[in-house]
Amino acid sequence: MPDFRRYLVNIDSISTHQLFTDCLVIGAGIAGLRAAIEAAKHCNVIIVCKGSLEDSNTWKAQGGIASVLNKTDTFESHITDTLNTGCGLCDQGIVDLVVRQGPELMEQLLSWGTEFDQIDGHIATTLEGGHTHPRVAHAHGDETGRIIAEALIKKARQNPNIKMVENFYTIDLLTNDDNECIGIIGHDKHSPPGTDQIIWAANTILATGGAGQLYRETTNPEVATGDGIAMAYRAGAVLQDLEFLQFHPTTLYVAGASRALITETLRGEGAVLLDNKGRRFMKEYHESAELAPRDIVSRAILAQMLKNKSTHVYLDVRHFDKEYFAKRFPHIFELCESFDIDVSRDLIPVRPSAHYMIGGVKTDASAKTSIENLYACGEVASTGLHGANRLGSNSLLEGLVFGKTAGQSVYQHKKASVAHIKHPLIKYQIPHSDRSLLDTADIRNSLRALMWRNMGITRKARPLAETQEIIRFWQRYVMDKVFDGPAGWECQNMLTVCLLMAQSAQMRQESRGVHFRSDFPDTDDEHFKKRIEISKEL
Ligand code: SIN
Repeated sequence: MPDFRRYLVNIDSISTHQLFTDCLVIGAGIAGLRAAIEAAKHCNVIIVCKGSLEDSNTWKAQGGIASVLNKTDTFESHITDTLNTGCGLCDQGIVDLVVRQGPELMEQLLSWGTEFDQIDGHIATTLEGGHTHPRVAHAHGDETGRIIAEALIKKARQNPNIKMVENFYTIDLLTNDDNECIGIIGHDKHSPPGTDQIIWAANTILATGGAGQLYRETTNPEVATGDGIAMAYRAGAVLQDLEFLQFHPTTLYVAGASRALITETLRGEGAVLLDNKGRRFMKEYHESAELAPRDIVSRAILAQMLKNKSTHVYLDVRHFDKEYFAKRFPHIFELCESFDIDVSRDLIPVRPSAHYMIGGVKTDASAKTSIENLYACGEVASTGLHGANRLGSNSLLEGLVFGKTAGQSVYQHKKASVAHIKHPLIKYQIPHSDRSLLDTADIRNSLRALMWRNMGITRKARPLAETQEIIRFWQRYVMDKVFDGPAGWECQNMLTVCLLMAQSAQMRQESRGVHFRSDFPDTDDEHFKKRIEISKEL
C-alpha cells in the first residue's frame, strides 16, 4: 500500500548536511517554547518551526488560559468542569495534574513578562462555556496567545543553550531498529529544493500543533496541517482519539474573509446568539444557553441554520459600551471595523468552523510517546485531558504544563546527551513513479471540502465510508510521489491524517462530545467508554 511508506523522501545520511543536539523541539507554540526553556536548563536545544514564530495557534489564541486564580474558585471545581465537558473520556489523573499546576505556572509566566490583564493588582478572569467560575485569564484583551508567546520567545532568546530556526520544515522523524527516535530529516525553506538536512537528536519533542487546515473552514493558521500526527504515524507511534475534532461555534462569516475566530469570552461577557430572523435560540437547546459546552452550541447553530435555511447566525454585542468593547476586545473590534461592521449598531455574522484537534499522538503523564526518546506536548499530543470535548481555554494551560513536563523528562533521561546517540547509516530509496505530475493545491482544496462535508459537526456511516474511499483513491497517485517542497509533503500528510480520522470516526458508533453520529445519536458507555487507538503495522 503506498500510504505505508516509512519516509516521504529519499534519504542518504552520508551525503546529507548534518547537525547534532541533545534536544530537538519541533514547533514554537506555547508547548514547544515552554519545553525548550525547561530542557535548556541542562541540555542544548534546537527549536525548529515550519513558518515564522508568529505562525501558530498559540499566537492566534484570543480568549485566554484557564486556571484557578480566585479565592472563590477551587481546583475541585475546575477538575469537575473539565470532566463534565469531557463526557466520560477524560483521564482523571491527567486532569488533576494539569489543573493543580496551573496557578504556579501562571505566576511564572507573569514573572517572565506576560502582561495578563489585571483588576486591583490580581489577574483578571472571565467566563467561557462549561466553566462554573470565571477562571479564564486574558492579556491585552483578546490577544492572550500573542502576549504569552512573545514572553516565552523573549525568555528562550535570552538562553544561550537554545537555538531557534524558523522556516524549517520537518519532513520525518528518524528511528532506528530499537524503536528509538534519533532525530529528524527536514528542509530549510531557504535552501534549494531537494537539499535536505538531518538533525540527530538524543531527544525529540514533537510540538507541531494542530490540524484545522484539514477542513475548508477553520480558525487555524495555514501551518496547521497535522504534520506531526502524520510523521509520528509513519514512525510507528500510537495515536488516539482522532475522531474528536472540536468546532468553534463562532467564527466570522463574511464572504472573502478567512474564518477569523470570534472569542467565546464575548459570550462569557454577555454576547447573545440570534438566528437570521433576529430570534435568540440557544435557550431552546440548553439551559446554559450561549454558555453551554462548545459541541452543543455548534450543533445548535447548525440546526438553526438548517431550520431557517440560512448560511449563518449572528452574535449580538450591540448592548456593550462601544468604548469598553474596543478596549476589552481590540482585535475583534478592528476585525469588524475592517469589514464595515460597527459593533454598536450591526450584528456580527458567525458560524462554526474547525478549531482544535483533541486527538493526536498518545502520551503518558511524562509526555512520553510509544517511541523511545520521542515526547509530544501541546495540540499534537493526546494526553487524555480533554476527553471527548475540550473545555475552552484548557489547551494553553495543557501546553504550558506538558511543555514543562516534556522538558523535564528530557533532562531526567539517562541518555539526555547527544553523545549517546547511536545513529545508523540511513539509506532509503523510493521507487520512481511514472504517474503524471500533480496539482497538489487542487487535491488539498478537494480534501478540505470533503472533510467539511462528511467529517464535520455531524457524521454518519455512508459518508464516512465514502470519505475513506475517495481519500484512498487520491492516495494512490499522491503517496507514490517524492516531492521536494512543503506543498507536496503537506498534501501527503493531510491525506494520511484525514484517512485516520475518518477511520476512527467510523469505528466510534456512538455520539459523545464533539463526535456526533446521526446514525448513532446516543452515548454507548457499554461499548465505547474507551479510547480508539490507531498505529501502523511496522
Ligand atoms: C476562544 O477564545 O473562544 C478560544 C479559546 C479556546 O479555544 O480555548
